[in-house]
Amino acid sequence: MTLIVVTGGGGFIGSHVAEHYAKQKENEVIIIDNLSRAKLLHKDDKNAMYNWNYLHQYKNIEFFQNDIRDFNFLKNLFNKIEIDAIIHTAGQTAVTTSVTDPKEDFENNLIGTYNILEAVRISKSNPAIVFCSTNKVFGDNVNNCNIEEKETRYVFTSEYKNGISEKFSTDLCEHTPYGASKFCADVYAQEYGHIYGLKTGVFRMSCIYGTRQFGFEDQGWVAHFVISAILNKKINIYGDGKQVRDLLYVSDLIDANDKFIKNSQKLKHDVFCMGGGKENTLSLLELISILKNKLDKKINIEFFDWRPSDQKVYISDISKAKQKLNWNPKINPQEGIEKLINWTKKNKKIF
Ligand SMILES: NC(=O)c1ccc[n+]([C@@H]2O[C@H](COP(=O)([O-])OP(=O)(O)OC[C@H]3O[C@@H](n4cnc5c(N)ncnc54)[C@H](O)[C@@H]3O)[C@@H](O)[C@H]2O)c1
Repeated sequence: MTLIVVTGGGGFIGSHVAEHYAKQKENEVIIIDNLSRAKLLHKDDKNAMYNWNYLHQYKNIEFFQNDIRDFNFLKNLFNKIEIDAIIHTAGQTAVTTSVTDPKEDFENNLIGTYNILEAVRISKSNPAIVFCSTNKVFGDNVNNCNIEEKETRYVFTSEYKNGISEKFSTDLCEHTPYGASKFCADVYAQEYGHIYGLKTGVFRMSCIYGTRQFGFEDQGWVAHFVISAILNKKINIYGDGKQVRDLLYVSDLIDANDKFIKNSQKLKHDVFCMGGGKENTLSLLELISILKNKLDKKINIEFFDWRPSDQKVYISDISKAKQKLNWNPKINPQEGIEKLINWTKKNKKIF
């Protein structure tokens, strides 16, 4: 039997991770989630508990409605069980919330992650640990990269034509409190690898998208655009819409995480920029145009001013992940968006 712990298993990425492992009957999965996403999505939103409830179909998942800020809970749990892998997705995820409530952000993202690392360090097991970090660790240094304006998108000029790699500077720039708490947690995860021999894989993720995401304006823009377009809701665009991101379908992320876990004995600990890479990018305007074609209708959009710290282009250089994890994204944006459209249409009543 293999025992996998998923923090944030009631959320988008965590629930897909939990389902992936639960589908293999030989695995036992433990989910730890405080269900705070319900608060983020407003308690009366029907979909706030959707992923948590959805996973109850799997008999090999055990659910703990607990908080990763509770160190004693983690310490006691990790002392009782022999864990093979932890995928740590729980956290405060919205940049906007981090600005209005930095304490909440700091405690969830930094103290929560420290608690996981420390509870593992003093436990009897040495699981592979995947930490969901973010491209926001590079802050607005990314905005100093030279870009060119094309008809529907901004592009990096030649120096960063392969995207932003693990070597890009994280220093001397603005991060937002979310970027700062994630960056500290990212460094802690690395440090626990260096000094205590924990097998930590830090994944600096750009835009992960997929079904059951319930994206909204501040988080999960691809899902937010798709859902809004299908439900005939207006989409607000901040800036000119030529902002570009690389997109990674959630199953491809899980594949990369799994490859780290399976090879963690050899890899020990490492940092990976993680996204769709330069082959899987879209601008906001390009997504709108795809939706217009696929749904065969006019999409209602309105433009507003740029938001502070918005990166005009972010593309992950995934060559290290490709090489070290022997991994490649399989689902391109056209296919991924098709899946998202089909799922949203089928599940219209839950929105
Ligand atoms: N989705 C993306 O594109 C993306 C990109 C970069 C980084 N990330 C990171 O990946 C992780 C997962 O993102 P997601 O999109 O699945 O977010 P999500 O909001 O859907 O899931 C996060 C889950 O964590 C839980 N949680 C929050 N604080 C907790 C706490 N203190 N204790 C226990 N549970 C807690 C929430 O209830 C929620 O279910 C986050 O850490 C996020 O910062 C996501």
